[in-house]
Amino acid sequence: MKIFLDTASIESIKKFVDMGIVDGITTNPTLISREKGHPEDIMREIVKIVKGPVNLEVVATKTEEMVEEGLRLKKFGENVIVKVPMTSDGLKAVRKLDENKIKTNVTLIFSSNQALLAAKAGASYVSPFIGRLDDAGQEGMTVIKEIVQIFGNYGYSSEVLVASVRHPIHVIEAGKLGAHIVTLPPDILGKMMNHPLTDKGLALFLSDWEKVKKEHKYTI
Ligand code: E4P
Repeated sequence: MKIFLDTASIESIKKFVDMGIVDGITTNPTLISREKGHPEDIMREIVKIVKGPVNLEVVATKTEEMVEEGLRLKKFGENVIVKVPMTSDGLKAVRKLDENKIKTNVTLIFSSNQALLAAKAGASYVSPFIGRLDDAGQEGMTVIKEIVQIFGNYGYSSEVLVASVRHPIHVIEAGKLGAHIVTLPPDILGKMMNHPLTDKGLALFLSDWEKVKKEHKYTI
């Protein structure tokens, strides 16, 4: 299962990339708006730091402009994936970008039907937003289950990128269903990493080792 980081924070990206646990990045206009600095500098910097796919979202809403923006974003680096919203213009842009051999991620997906259409249009990734569905009183994970099953039934190569993840249990559930990727805000990745018993266990090991050092005049 691949883990993407859902952030435009250079600091967070560097931190987790250095641990070797980040396979790619997703950004969106909201995430970029939270950072200081020129948006283009931020996007270029992320593309430089991360070896895997970096998803950069278009803000145009008409097909031609989306394609133009996508071609411009792609110039930031070979690893750029153009993120396009799930609209009729967006699907046309996906088809055109695909013809130009540019990979796309169709975002703001809230149903398995939308995911099916995005896959048919040629999206490399589909991004269902499960947390926002949960917030609206609909079971987000049901949509993941349906998409994974439908893509498997018909051999679609689009990868299911589980987005809008709110807690570590979402990651486990997505993994059990066979979703290809989860994209996580940095704090959720932190929560996956930590466990109070790990901290407690380490503190005990270290204090016991202090006793060994004292008893044997051992310096390591
Ligand atoms: C994914 O590509 C999106 O950037 C993200 O997961 C949206 O999540 P949110 O619902 O927490 O804003």
